[in-house]
Amino acid sequence: MAEKIFNVMFIGDVVGTPGLNMVELWLKNFIRKFSIEFVICNGENAHHGKGMSLEALNQLVASGVNVVTGGNHTWSNFNFFESLKTNNQVLRPQNYPKGTYGRGYGVYRLPGGLGDIAVLNLQGRTFMYPIDCPFRTADWVLKQVREQARFIIVDMHAEATAEKIALGWYLDGRVSAVIGTHTHVQTADERILPKGTGYCSDAGMTGPHASVIGMQTKTAVDRMIYQTPHKYECAVDDVHFSGIVLSLDAATGRTVAIRRIFYPEFERGEIAE
Ligand SMILES: [Fe+2]
Repeated sequence: MAEKIFNVMFIGDVVGTPGLNMVELWLKNFIRKFSIEFVICNGENAHHGKGMSLEALNQLVASGVNVVTGGNHTWSNFNFFESLKTNNQVLRPQNYPKGTYGRGYGVYRLPGGLGDIAVLNLQGRTFMYPIDCPFRTADWVLKQVREQARFIIVDMHAEATAEKIALGWYLDGRVSAVIGTHTHVQTADERILPKGTGYCSDAGMTGPHASVIGMQTKTAVDRMIYQTPHKYECAVDDVHFSGIVLSLDAATGRTVAIRRIFYPEFERGEIAE
């Protein structure tokens, strides 16, 4: 019997209404083009550039997203707390202190008899909050889901590239893929680690790139120059779709192909010869 391969898409941090509208506009095309069976999307900045909201969640789900992951900004919109408690299509990092509401991982049914896929959301600690250890948390979650889910995708929401790479190696062969989020800059290091785990340090940002990681440039520059807080305002222009497509082997759960999506490409000109 020919080996069965299927595709999963991971969308990098969706920022504000421009990002949400970009997902709405393009995701169904990507689902068709790449025969995507399951879509994960980091949405911690979907609500006007900071936090999540039920409206944003509903728009992402209506656009074809199956699971929305989060990060340090998930907590920014207090009105979303009830949904975090009750809606299993939205995750927050698992390694926040025990007792925090919401859930950090979920197991979901794939179509076509492919079985179950687990999604685990973790957060790094380097240059971030000193929360629980993401490595040991991953060990604990794998014990919970391994029997049920052959496919496990990890969203490692972290600032430091080294911390994400370390987690990739730590989980190589134990999960299908480790994809980083949070920096809003897509990295070109997508690869398959030796034991079959797909890896990319950052899936990038689906949102306005005429900005400083999604924020209006003047506000961001003023923050840097004056070293004081300035009101955060989401940018609007030059919106790109950013993500990763993974091909998974249905028999083993391993990644057999990984490809970055950044659409449309940046204008780069031609190198003079
Ligand atoms: Fe973040």
